[in-house]
Amino acid sequence: MPFGDNSRAASGKMNLAPVLAEAIDIAREAGALLCDLFSKPRDVGYKGKIDLVTDADRASEELILGRLARAFPDHAVLAEESAGGRVPRPDPPPRHLWLVDPLDGTTNYAHGLPIYAVSIGFLVEGAPALGVVYDPSRDELFHGGVGLGAYLNDRPIRVSAEADLERSILATGFPYDLRVSRDNNLDHFTRFSYATQAIRRLGSAALDLCYVACGRLDGFWELKLHPWDTAAAAAFIPEAGGRMTDYAGGPFDVFGLQTVASNGLIHGALIRVIAGEES
Ligand code: IPD
Ligand code: CA
Ligand code: CA
Repeated sequence: MPFGDNSRAASGKMNLAPVLAEAIDIAREAGALLCDLFSKPRDVGYKGKIDLVTDADRASEELILGRLARAFPDHAVLAEESAGGRVPRPDPPPRHLWLVDPLDGTTNYAHGLPIYAVSIGFLVEGAPALGVVYDPSRDELFHGGVGLGAYLNDRPIRVSAEADLERSILATGFPYDLRVSRDNNLDHFTRFSYATQAIRRLGSAALDLCYVACGRLDGFWELKLHPWDTAAAAAFIPEAGGRMTDYAGGPFDVFGLQTVASNGLIHGALIRVIAGEES
């Protein structure tokens, strides 16, 4: 496994490499569990009108939380199904915080559409330090961290070189409250549809972000994501040469409500379209 030497410096005194190795192992085990359950009958419940949860989300979360507790008993953990909704930024930030999405892409999964992933991010003093996103359907494991680089199945990845928004392919998603909130991304979706080559709605924000990191997508934007959706990829998108910000181009905050990610080259254009200055 390719681990650079800068990881210790980049995260204070902590050596991130063994932490990352453990996270990779956990993500693989949880992904295998999801894959195994995928073809079996699903027990689907509703957290909201269109916000699903399945027995597989819960089983994966239980597995991940158990392993994290055994490996890192003094670390804090926030995981989607046990968090029970939007969580405020912890203040002060825990020294070590895991952010876990046991199944990103639940709607796809519940419908038998094999676009989903396990996403495990790790923050040190509130800042993304490392992350793992595992897509068991394709056996694709994205990982990386500050000072460690960014990898897909252990090969270094890099963002795309596309500098023209009109030739760019982007992805996005829509918040579960889109029927009741006017802040539902439909306005931005319309604008980007005119401004780009194509837009995709794949249904897994964690994978969308990894696809920006490896150049399959040139950019991504979405509103109201949760920290467990973004924390993993936020740790390695910059390592792949990409950029992540809020909608105004300011620093990205995993606990914030706005996510823009890109290859860096089209980032200014994305921010201008969101602001309504370009279409
Ligand atoms: C969802 C997916 C989706 C995004 C939603 C997320 P979930 O996560 O990442 O792509 O559009 O905003 O909540 O509910 O499948 O874990
Ligand atoms: Ca999610
Ligand atoms: Ca989820």
